Amino acid sequence: MVDVLRVVGLTKDDVRNEGNLQWQIADSEWGGINQTPEQFAPALILLSQQQIRTMIDVGTWSAWTAAFYACYLRRFEPTLHIDTIDRREERSAEVRNDPELTLLPITYHVFDTLKHKEHIGAADFAQIDAGHSYLEAKNDWTCYGLHSRCVFFHDVNDVPINQRYRDRGEMTCYHLWQELKASPPVGKRAVELFQHPSGKALMGIGLLLPG
Ligand SMILES: C[S@@+](CC[C@H](N)C(=O)[O-])C[C@H]1O[C@@H](n2cnc3c(N)ncnc32)[C@H](O)[C@@H]1O
Repeated sequence: MVDVLRVVGLTKDDVRNEGNLQWQIADSEWGGINQTPEQFAPALILLSQQQIRTMIDVGTWSAWTAAFYACYLRRFEPTLHIDTIDRREERSAEVRNDPELTLLPITYHVFDTLKHKEHIGAADFAQIDAGHSYLEAKNDWTCYGLHSRCVFFHDVNDVPINQRYRDRGEMTCYHLWQELKASPPVGKRAVELFQHPSGKALMGIGLLLPG
């Protein structure tokens, strides 16, 4: 699975891809999977066992990650549908308008989750990866994660992102994850996928799973 993700290609990010630089989509931060293969692969394998038929993806970005989820998860649940949300739509235009990728079971929503509380409902799986301040991540957790069966938080172990907010005196998704890990919602367990080929604290996935 790590190799599959690498061959699909990673978002251009020389800091977070240290150790995987040769797998970046050349010079494009709008293409590629914006995840660390060594973290994302075990998350995908755990999720494949969770009967995921509905997913809410908060933070579409280029939609490469959503497209990959659609291809992967529907192998396990053919009726899978993904709702993906972003306040900006231009970055996902390539995937949305591609003649083949447009056939994937993905509905694109364009709104700001802090301003517009559109009700999409609880899902089997929610990915929270939009704003990374504590308040933004908590808003998205409350609106989309709290009632979903499985929840994925991204960048909860990313020192550069967290430092940027700390310099401004703000808490981040790291702090939200620490709270949830210390006291997971009833019936959920917390899993951390923090391994990184650089040996550094970069990206980092926190998963809440049933059990
Ligand atoms: C780190 S990127 C998401 C990466 C994506 N999950 C992936 O794996 O490729 C964060 C995205 O969240 C969006 N975003 C940030 N704050 C938002 C908000 N309040 N409402 C909606 N989208 C937001 C940004 O426009 C950006 O595209």
